[in-house]
Amino acid sequence: MEATPKIIGVVGAGVMGRGIVQLFAQAGHVVRLFDARPGVAAEARTAVGGLLERLVAKGVLQPAALAACMANMQVCDALAELAGCDVVVEAIIEELGAKQALFRDLEEVVDPATILASNTSSLTVSAIAASCRRPERIAGLHFFNPVPLMKIAEIIPGIRTTPAVVETLRHLIEAAGHQTVTASDQPGFLINHAGRGLYSEGFRIVEEQVADFAAVDRIMRDCCGFRMGPFELMDLTGLDVSGKVMQSIFEQFQQEPRYRPSSLVPARLAAGLFGRKTGEGFYKYDGVQKLEPAEPAPPADVTLGAVWVGEGDRRAEFLKLLRQAGAEIVERPESAAAVVLMPWGEDITTAAQRLGLDPALAVGVDPLLHWDKRRVVMSGPATGAAARNLLHGLLGADGAKVTVIADSPGFVSQRVIAMIVNIACEIAQRGIARASEIDPAIRIGLGYPAGPLELGDKIGPARILQILETIEAITGDPRYRPSLWLRRRAMLGLSLRHVAG
Ligand SMILES: NC(=O)c1ccc[n+]([C@@H]2O[C@H](COP(=O)([O-])OP(=O)(O)OC[C@H]3O[C@@H](n4cnc5c(N)ncnc54)[C@H](O)[C@@H]3O)[C@@H](O)[C@H]2O)c1
Repeated sequence: MEATPKIIGVVGAGVMGRGIVQLFAQAGHVVRLFDARPGVAAEARTAVGGLLERLVAKGVLQPAALAACMANMQVCDALAELAGCDVVVEAIIEELGAKQALFRDLEEVVDPATILASNTSSLTVSAIAASCRRPERIAGLHFFNPVPLMKIAEIIPGIRTTPAVVETLRHLIEAAGHQTVTASDQPGFLINHAGRGLYSEGFRIVEEQVADFAAVDRIMRDCCGFRMGPFELMDLTGLDVSGKVMQSIFEQFQQEPRYRPSSLVPARLAAGLFGRKTGEGFYKYDGVQKLEPAEPAPPADVTLGAVWVGEGDRRAEFLKLLRQAGAEIVERPESAAAVVLMPWGEDITTAAQRLGLDPALAVGVDPLLHWDKRRVVMSGPATGAAARNLLHGLLGADGAKVTVIADSPGFVSQRVIAMIVNIACEIAQRGIARASEIDPAIRIGLGYPAGPLELGDKIGPARILQILETIEAITGDPRYRPSLWLRRRAMLGLSLRHVAG
C-alpha cells in the first residue's frame, strides 16, 4: 500500500470544496485550495474558519485545534501551487468538458504518483479519466452536503483505476472519521441510485391522484419512520437539482422504467418552484419555516353502523382498535355498513372483487404501517361516503390522525417501501456495491430509518415480492417487476443480505 497522503489539494471552493477542506483540515492534513475565480478560495478559507470558531464557542473544538486548522488551510492563486499534493480532490462545476480539462491540467502539475479524485455526482468517472495520460490514478470520491456532517463518501474506481488508489482513498477518508463505500462507475453510483425509489414512487402516487404531496409526506413520516417524505426532501435539495438527477439516471440506465421521472416536474421547474431556495416548492415557506398545509377535517357526518373485517395478518390487532373505538363488529359482511380489507399490493377494487364484496361498502386499511400516530384509509371509486366516513371516524376516535387516500395497489407505504427495497436489491444484483455495504451507506447517505435490505428482511422478502408482483399484475407497469436478487432470496427463504458462498 502507498504511504498515507499528507498534503491534500482541493480544486473548487464552492459548497462542496469548502466542506472537503474543513474535513481534511480537521483531520490534520495540510490542505491547499484553488478556485478559478480570484478571491473565492480565500473567502472559503475565511468561511471555514468562521464555522470552526463557532465550534470552539460551543466547546466542541479546542482553540489550539482551530489555530492548527487555520495554519493547515492554504490558499493557492494558481493551479501550479498544487504541485507536491499527495491527493487532489476536484469539486468544480458538474460539466464533463470542464472536469476533463482540469484533470489534464492537473497532470501537468502534480507528481506521477498523486491521486486525482473527482467529487462528481452524476458524471461517469471513466469519462473524466479518459483524456488523462494516467487514468489509473483517477477515481471518484463522492461526498455529501454538508461534508463534515454527512459522514460517508463513495469511492468510485473508473474502469482503469488501480486497486491501490481505492485503498489509499479508503484509508484517508476513514482516518478523517467518515465511512466509505466502494461503488461501481454506474449512474448515480450507490446512494443517489438508491434514492430513486422514494422520489419516483412518491411522484407516481401523486400522478395517479392517490394522495397529494403533503399526504404522501405525512404517511412516510408518521407511519414509516422516515425523517422526511419525498416532497419535503426535494424542497430541501431543490427540484432544479433533483429533477436533473432524476432525468440523468433514467437516461443513463437506458430508460429503465424503475427510474422513470415524473411528468409533473417540467411545469414546476418552468414556474421556478425549486423549493426552499426560491421560497416555494411543493410547500410554501415563511423564511426557513415550512408552512404545513392544513389537514382535511375529519368527517362531520358519521352514521354509526356495523363493521366487518376480512382476514389479514393484523386482523386481531385491528379488531382491538375498533372495539376500543366502540365499533360494532359483525361476523358476516352482508350485515355490515362497512367492510374492511387489509390487502398487500392490491387496491380495494381488486380485493373487493376477488372476495365478491359490495364495492360500495369496501374500505382498505394499510396493514404495513405503524398505527400509533396516523392510520391510512383507502377508498375505491365505488366506495360510499357512509362506509368511508364510518372508518375514518372510528380510526380517529382515539386522537390518531387519519389520512384518506384514493384507490392504490399497495396504498402509499407498501409501494414506496417495496420500490426502495427492490432498487437496493437491483443494486446488489448489478454488483454496484457489496450487499453488506449497501445498508450502512444508505442509512447515513439518505438518512433512512433502516437500510433497505434490512427493511426488506423485516417485512419479509416473500411479502415484498408479493407486493411487487401484485402491483405489477394490476398496473401492467414494468417498473414494479421484482429484481432477480429479491425473487431468488424470497423463493429460497434467504435474507436479502445473503450472498452466495
Ligand atoms: N452541492 C451538492 O450537494 C453536491 C453534492 C455532491 C457532489 N456535488 C458535486 O460537487 C461538485 C461541486 O459542486 P458545488 O455544489 O460545490 O458547486 P459550486 O458551484 O458551489 O462550486 C463550484 C466552484 O468551482 C469553481 N470552479 C468552476 N470551474 C473551475 C475550474 N475549472 N477550476 C477551478 N475552479 C472552478 C467555481 O468558481 C465555484 O467556486 C460538482 O461536481 C457537484 O456535482 C455537489
